[in-house]
Amino acid sequence: MRDGDKEVAALAALAEVVAGMTVGLGTGSTAAFFAAHLGKRVRAGLSVTAVATSLATEQAARAAGIPVIAFEDIATVDLTVDGADEFDDRLFAIKGAGGAMLREKIVAAASRRMIVIADGSKHRAAIGRAPVPVEILPFAREFVTAELRAIGAGPVLRMAEGAYYRSDQGNLIADCAFASLPDPVAMAAALSAIPGILGHGLFLTEVDTIYSADGGVVTRLDR
Ligand code: A5P
Repeated sequence: MRDGDKEVAALAALAEVVAGMTVGLGTGSTAAFFAAHLGKRVRAGLSVTAVATSLATEQAARAAGIPVIAFEDIATVDLTVDGADEFDDRLFAIKGAGGAMLREKIVAAASRRMIVIADGSKHRAAIGRAPVPVEILPFAREFVTAELRAIGAGPVLRMAEGAYYRSDQGNLIADCAFASLPDPVAMAAALSAIPGILGHGLFLTEVDTIYSADGGVVTRLDR
């Protein structure tokens, strides 16, 4: 059912894609439905170019027949479609369970329009239950984790196969659990102020629209 809802939300976003657009492709299982359907449209003749928010997405997009260009060569994207770990009615979102939030946030910031697609289980009265991933320069590992502990962020360094997980940029990720997150704006500012933190998964200003689906029924939230 969740996969069905992810796909239904992805199709709602796909309806916004028109020929000639530069499309930002998100990362994760929901964004993968979007890329797969966009690939079908491209193979049927739709002309778009895409930028990818992760190496995995780039590979999947190319395999689906979508022309992918390097994000570093462009300054603006027409429309980005990405998933989220949690969202609320303020259009606040937590992203980064897949470890791609740094690139995702840069591409979202460069986008004229940013859509989040999700199954309805990600909807919260207020974000804060999911851990907030933080990308850390490896050089600053212990300093940053100590700073995170000091602000009550409960950092846990992400592991993969017995070693530190590495982002596409080769950095570390700490998943930060908060006892409560009453002021995400203040927490985002506090995280951004720690030297050695390269990015975090609190998306508070980037999202323009959310399509979420529950039992096949799409709900649209707009900023
Ligand atoms: C990737 O880093 C994330 O931001 C994803 O967009 C997010 O974790 C949602 O992934 P799913 O669509 O797989 O739940």
